[in-house]
Amino acid sequence: MAKVDANISFVIFYCVAPVLILLLTARYIFGLTLKKLESKIFEHLLSWISRRYLEKDKQLLFEPLADLKQRSRGPFSILEIGLGCGENFKFYPKGTHFSCVEPSPHHDSVWKKRLENYRHIKLVDCFHTYAESMPDVKSDSYDVVVSTLTLCTVRDPPSVLKEIHRVLKPGGSFFTMEHVAGSKGSVIRAVQDLVTMYTPYSYVTGGCKMNRETWAYLDQSGFQSVQYRQYSINTWMLFFLRPFLYGTAVKKGIEEKIKSK
Ligand SMILES: C[S@@+](CC[C@H](N)C(=O)[O-])C[C@H]1O[C@@H](n2cnc3c(N)ncnc32)[C@H](O)[C@@H]1O
Repeated sequence: MAKVDANISFVIFYCVAPVLILLLTARYIFGLTLKKLESKIFEHLLSWISRRYLEKDKQLLFEPLADLKQRSRGPFSILEIGLGCGENFKFYPKGTHFSCVEPSPHHDSVWKKRLENYRHIKLVDCFHTYAESMPDVKSDSYDVVVSTLTLCTVRDPPSVLKEIHRVLKPGGSFFTMEHVAGSKGSVIRAVQDLVTMYTPYSYVTGGCKMNRETWAYLDQSGFQSVQYRQYSINTWMLFFLRPFLYGTAVKKGIEEKIKSK
């Protein structure tokens, strides 16, 4: 019996354990490398899209921020949801108190490094959570909430918009720029439907639905005023991502609340 036990121990110690350790180490290293690679591709692709196709319209979208900052009573606070690698820092006015909601910690080092180039922005909080439920983010506390290229990815847009509405101060504004679904019956829409439903596109892009009718969610979001412009970005290569939307939604202010009572 003692001999059998010794043989089993030998097999476990010299064969099973080393193979297990090797497998776990390989998985860890390979997993890390894959994550790093994914993160690098994501960083460069988003930067390129932002610079090449969105820059001018982002300037128009974010132009009112300076004015809103002037009118803000305390420090001017912005919460960005789905921060990614931080493509929007350059549009935020001097003295902005900045917070973000980003479920993935893998981009932290990239956006923190980029933020060092914008000394005029003060980092206040970063919440690693999904925007569908942000229990740690206080209600009525931000002048502005921003989302770019994120409403296409979130799992539940109505819940996200409800949370954005909750955390905005009364009278605060939500700024958004998203790629959206093409019009029903168009070739672009047919391609978007096919690619979203029948290819791994959504899986490899972290859940992006290129056929999402985001404007419908904005229309039903319960903000006091919703204004957006639908347009097409100028690209033949990414033709299925041409339909875009940018705009703002404003939460009812205290004055309006009192008036309506
Ligand atoms: C396509 S990237 C856009 C990044 C950045 N906003 C930009 O314009 O480059 C979408 C980002 O949303 C984040 N995200 C995905 N699901 C989310 C959710 N439910 N709540 C908040 N952010 C989410 C992803 O981690 C990713 O960083």
